[in-house]
Amino acid sequence: MKAAVLCEQPGDLEIEDLSIDAPGPNEVLIQTKGAGLCHSDLHFMEGLFRTPLPMVMGHESAGVVEAVGSDVSYVAPGDHVVACLSIFCGQCHRCLSGNPHRCTNIRATSRPRDAAPRLTRDDDTGVDQMARLGGFAEQMLVHQNAVVKIRPDMPLDRACLIGCGVTTGFGAAVNTAGVGVGSVVCVIGCGGIGLSAVQGARVAGAGRIIAVDMTDEKLETARQLGATDTVNASEVDDVVTAVKDMTGGGVEYSFEAIGLAQTVQEAFGMLDIGGTATVIGMVPSKTRVELRGIDFLAEKKLQGSMMGSNQFRSDIPMMIDLYLDGRLMLDEMISGRIDLEQINEGYSWMKAGTSNRTVITFD
Ligand SMILES: NC(=O)c1ccc[n+]([C@@H]2O[C@H](COP(=O)([O-])OP(=O)(O)OC[C@H]3O[C@@H](n4cnc5c(N)ncnc54)[C@H](O)[C@@H]3O)[C@@H](O)[C@H]2O)c1
Ligand SMILES: [Zn+2]
Ligand SMILES: [Zn+2]
Repeated sequence: MKAAVLCEQPGDLEIEDLSIDAPGPNEVLIQTKGAGLCHSDLHFMEGLFRTPLPMVMGHESAGVVEAVGSDVSYVAPGDHVVACLSIFCGQCHRCLSGNPHRCTNIRATSRPRDAAPRLTRDDDTGVDQMARLGGFAEQMLVHQNAVVKIRPDMPLDRACLIGCGVTTGFGAAVNTAGVGVGSVVCVIGCGGIGLSAVQGARVAGAGRIIAVDMTDEKLETARQLGATDTVNASEVDDVVTAVKDMTGGGVEYSFEAIGLAQTVQEAFGMLDIGGTATVIGMVPSKTRVELRGIDFLAEKKLQGSMMGSNQFRSDIPMMIDLYLDGRLMLDEMISGRIDLEQINEGYSWMKAGTSNRTVITFD
């Protein structure tokens, strides 16, 4: 099967023909139907975060179950599924205390170290999977706790977006921050993640949603999806002052959806007294963030969000219902559909800031 493989860091992806094993007892083999391009893969391609290589990239995919292992009863061949990197063991204290997205019990949901690799090259050497999913591939072999079964009338080239971007942004607003009716919100960065945070805030009933980005095109999309106000960061001297002026003091909830120290500082700086800033973007591991200590006296809070603090087996079907009811907008987030072979081109659009979400479709 064809897959997009990262062989060096920094580096582009190379399309390779790989062999995929039969499912182990707890595994599910999936025929991929749609895969979204998330910026997290690009961070790895640019070498901002280290990872074992070679690796099939991609972690935002949906498809149809082709085969299941002997211990799998949750899904059967023919079921439609979305894969999610929040693979939960279901047994540890994090899973059992209502935070399965924080599960670190990787051993329980991976193949034993001495087992055959899931993916191999012709010379029998193994190839890793990004986030233990490897979604930029014609087929995926994953643990059964990495998938959620979805209704069959949901188009899979849109369902895939919920696997990472929508779950992350929507969940950051609704689950991590708990945006409520009438809240004043600002989202910095309007890619797939930020646009989903805008939508989470809209569905939660926020009163005002200020979107910040560098281009008017991105801000126009944000308006379509629910932003009530916009700030073009390339046209103002200082984003914090602009947002404070617009709100008469600051926002209750801010979200950073880029991964830069400067915008994290902006997210914290624009808070009203008692406000909460949520960092969604992946800030490079050696980067430090500077805050003014006195701001904590004003009960301002700074927190991170991992995959929108999801419980994806219930959250994703709920978001699919919202989409099919016309309350979650996914079509408007997709700026292009491509073949697997065009993946580097797709990422060049993200680097240039000209795409929202690009989706790979498979025949
Ligand atoms: N926390 C998590 O669980 C999680 C999950 C998925 C992705 N992420 C991270 O979220 C971030 C966003 O991902 P994405 O796929 O939406 O990326 P993207 O590249 O599609 O979007 C980023 C947006 O930020 C804008 N931008 C860049 N610099 C800016 C600035 N200085 N001010 C205002 N806007 C600016 C860009 O124009 C772009 O629209 C990435 O860092 C990604 O790794 C985190
Ligand atoms: Zn992602
Ligand atoms: Zn666990």
